[in-house]
Amino acid sequence: MRIVLITGATSGFGKLMTQTFLAHGDLVVATGRNLKQRREIFEEEREKFGDRLVEFDLDVRNEHQVLEVANIIEEKFSSLDILINNAGYGLFGALEDFSNEQIKEQMDVNFYGTVLMTRSFLPLLRKKQGKIFNFSSVFGFMGFPLTSLYCASKFAVEGLSESLRLELSSFGVQICLIQPGGFRTDFGKNLIWNFKNEHSIYDRSLRNYQNLHDYFAAKKKQHPLEVANGVLKLSKLKRIPMRKVFGQDGKFSYLLKTFVPESLYFIFFEKIINKFFNKP
Ligand SMILES: NC(=O)c1ccc[n+]([C@@H]2O[C@H](COP(=O)([O-])OP(=O)(O)OC[C@H]3O[C@@H](n4cnc5c(N)ncnc54)[C@H](OP(=O)(O)O)[C@@H]3O)[C@@H](O)[C@H]2O)c1
Repeated sequence: MRIVLITGATSGFGKLMTQTFLAHGDLVVATGRNLKQRREIFEEEREKFGDRLVEFDLDVRNEHQVLEVANIIEEKFSSLDILINNAGYGLFGALEDFSNEQIKEQMDVNFYGTVLMTRSFLPLLRKKQGKIFNFSSVFGFMGFPLTSLYCASKFAVEGLSESLRLELSSFGVQICLIQPGGFRTDFGKNLIWNFKNEHSIYDRSLRNYQNLHDYFAAKKKQHPLEVANGVLKLSKLKRIPMRKVFGQDGKFSYLLKTFVPESLYFIFFEKIINKFFNKP
């Protein structure tokens, strides 16, 4: 039986992947902030899958919790087959308007959390020639205005993962980047729109961005199960790809970013952004 550890299992992709891997017959170590107090989240799964669901409180910023979980997993199972670094959130707004704490926290969760988890569980993954899935985003290969910190955190996850893919290949540990477009999870609800005040020179653009985001979010059809099932399918491959883009919007963005010459790409985007973000 494979042992699969998932961060940010309390909602969205993380919760769905927990259910999907359990249904597949794996033992899932579901981790999340204050998960043990939020008993309702996995009430059904606890009943249905019994000992194959193991739950831990784990905030990916908390080194003590991360190391404690790694020790318990080592004692209980001695190794790990799959690590899914999924926990993350979005901070949208202008760089000038963020506080130092906001900037640090975005990187702490999305990037350093992935670093800390990966480093702490590598000894257990090596024993099984295991696999790591790191959640990036379309914003991991494409910059976007008023999204600079979120993009930076995901670009950082990309650099980390590409490098580790090569660093760990001789140990048989593989890494794959998961790059979803927009999917219906709680990501939008948990998104922080950093409106500083109405005097900020970015206030209007951010408002326009939020309106556009909400408009497209309401129309969004892509179901997160596509990603959960996709990660399960990838996990069963002998050799996993370096990256996997999910969603039609994701695939379109990937083609645009990969095949349109950079000079044209920016002329096109600057026009579009000026039109939609700066309108009165
Ligand atoms: N949905 C999309 O359209 C989309 C697109 C591209 C990439 N992504 C990426 O997909 C991943 C999952 O997001 P989602 O869409 O499933 O959003 P979600 O429904 O908001 O789930 C995010 C999860 O991350 C957890 N989390 C946040 N901060 C954490 C921390 N410090 N420690 C541990 N867990 C923490 C949340 O826990 P709490 O319940 O405690 O808040 C929650 O379980 C993220 O990395 C996100 O950047 C999402």
